[in-house]
Amino acid sequence: MSHIRGRFKKAADEKVAAYTSSLPFDWRLYRHDIAGSIAHARMLARQGIISESDSVIIVQGLEAIEREITRGEFDFKAELEDIHMAIEARLIEKVGEVGGKLHTARSRNDQIALDLRLYIREAIARTIGNFRELQRALVNLAEASMEVVMPGYTHLQPAQPVLLAHHLLAYFEMLQRDVGRFDCCRTRADVLPLGSGALAGVAYNVDREFLARELGFSQVSQNSLDAVSDRDFILEYEAAASISMMHLSRLAEEIILWSSAEFDFIELDEAYATGSSIMPQKKNPDVAELVRGKTGRVYGHLTAFLTTMKALPLAYNRDLQEDKEGLFDTADTLLASLDICTGLIATLKVNTEGAAKAVGRGHILATDLADYLAKKGESFRTAHEIVGRLINYAVKKGKPLPELSFAEYSNFSPLFGEDVYAITVESSLAARDTVGGTAPKRVAQAVAAAKKILGQGQ
Ligand code: ARG
Repeated sequence: MSHIRGRFKKAADEKVAAYTSSLPFDWRLYRHDIAGSIAHARMLARQGIISESDSVIIVQGLEAIEREITRGEFDFKAELEDIHMAIEARLIEKVGEVGGKLHTARSRNDQIALDLRLYIREAIARTIGNFRELQRALVNLAEASMEVVMPGYTHLQPAQPVLLAHHLLAYFEMLQRDVGRFDCCRTRADVLPLGSGALAGVAYNVDREFLARELGFSQVSQNSLDAVSDRDFILEYEAAASISMMHLSRLAEEIILWSSAEFDFIELDEAYATGSSIMPQKKNPDVAELVRGKTGRVYGHLTAFLTTMKALPLAYNRDLQEDKEGLFDTADTLLASLDICTGLIATLKVNTEGAAKAVGRGHILATDLADYLAKKGESFRTAHEIVGRLINYAVKKGKPLPELSFAEYSNFSPLFGEDVYAITVESSLAARDTVGGTAPKRVAQAVAAAKKILGQGQ
């Protein structure tokens, strides 16, 4: 029986114990829990709430327990409710009655709020690290493929030529915003809840500023009821992760499309592709498909926990225990997906010719032709109309635009001159010479700016 059942004569029903226990998943918080407890024990001694020698015994006991867990030698007893009870019970087993003093001026309610904030702080640092790796892979590929032209699409129809590098850097921008969101989330998680007690504060002369310094928080919470029941930082992590997974699912989708025979813009590395058990010719983009597919569970965790939080009265309610599995799975999924996307991007081969072939289809220079007439004085609407008719004609003749004769052009507008043949994919790209445009010199600047952000010089 756990030692928190003072008023009870019976042990909890076995089913109840299993249903309510968070130990099967919150054991992952053991390092954070022990770090919080060590700071708490030190604070208690500094404030004269427990003796210095008791504090030393407690701290040494906790350090030993951390080693036991890390080495896999810790016996997680199923009947203990959570990681807090498991560690405390072991502490008392190891150091005796003194171990029972650790929980002075503390409740599991402020303890778990602390553990989660410590966990999320670490998770955010790792998440941002993985974002930087993926951004680096994108920028490296962009830099290595500055010559590669592909169709830019709207409605998944060929629209205008763009540099592949420009397309890749669009993802750099998305990930840059993701990093910003996690950074914001870090600010809100950076608040120490310990010292809030069960809900109302604690009846001891605790030093919360000392705890904040020991544990690296820049602020202490200002309302004990809020501090033990606030899980906004978890929702924010999950919301930021959902947006990030949405971005990764878009990248994954492009990789899937581009590696198809129909597009043929890239070839996946064998280490990042799978075969079919029945069709020997297949090289499947399962890895990218799983990134796309895993987006669903991350959205699900956000929705699930928002629903758990809805209409919860102050302060702590056991419903809050439902915060953990979704958060852990969100962080695990996002970290792994970022890592896998980095590998996909770093190893894929670009098929310059395949992309160029696609540029040759679909009359991708039509806008440039309309711009040509507009620059010669035609209104853009009329120019658009004329080029539309010209395209119809070319389609009927089965010829791409550059193969039409000058006489054929002239039938559609007297404004066409011989210089119409100077409209090429290269001229089209170079013309988009605006901030954020696909002109090669702009894209080169964007690569340099991205490298600067990533700290690669320039
Ligand atoms: N396992 C609990 C949780 O995750 C810890 C806090 C328990 N507090 C309580 N009053 N039962 O929320």
